[in-house]
Amino acid sequence: MIAARNALRWGAVSQSLHWVIVLLVLVMAGLGLVMVELPNTALKVKLYALHKSVGLTIFALMLLRLAWRVHAGAPPPIAGIARWQARAAALTHGLLYMLLFAMPITGWITNAATGFPLRWFGLFSVPQFGGRDDALHALAKGWHEALFWSLVVLAIGHAFAAVWHHLFQHDATLARMLPRGWLDREESP
Ligand code: HEM
Repeated sequence: MIAARNALRWGAVSQSLHWVIVLLVLVMAGLGLVMVELPNTALKVKLYALHKSVGLTIFALMLLRLAWRVHAGAPPPIAGIARWQARAAALTHGLLYMLLFAMPITGWITNAATGFPLRWFGLFSVPQFGGRDDALHALAKGWHEALFWSLVVLAIGHAFAAVWHHLFQHDATLARMLPRGWLDREESP
């Protein structure tokens, strides 16, 4: 099947989900950091609504990504790679998955605890749990922020490792997450 991975590369579905989610997380980071600093204006309300809708989209895409990962699997570690590196990569990927679920969930709880309604791009209402709860709001907001900075650290490490492998190990770590022919690397060294 063309959308599934072959033995050595990520398939088109995994690649698309990976890069779309990267892009959306970058948008979310910018939006989140800017919107909390704004004075209470109509623009702030709009940016919060956008942040929540894009965040819920990431949650849905992550559900799809997890299902696809379970269905299609992952290519094996690059041949010849050190065992500790393969283990560190697997651990990082697991943590990134967890964080990309935990971010939308803590954001969702933060919003629910304010008692504000939640709508996806103004199109439909998304269920909320409970009502206004100031203590829960403070707790969830603290987690949302702390998890975000953990995500920043891990994502930078993850991207740095991929670029380092490409430039200095000359292997296909980065190339196999990109469409064939974008970077000139053999799939197996
Ligand atoms: C991967 C997804 C997400 C990322 C990367 C993200 C990122 C952020 C960031 C960086 C902030 C600013 C933190 C600060 O400096 O205080 C923030 C705040 C916030 N986020 Fe998210 N977010 C995500 C998903 C969501 C979702 C799905 C919702 C709601 C449905 C949400 C609701 C909020 C709210 C309400 C705040 C403001 C908290 C406050 O100061 O009152 N977020 N988010």
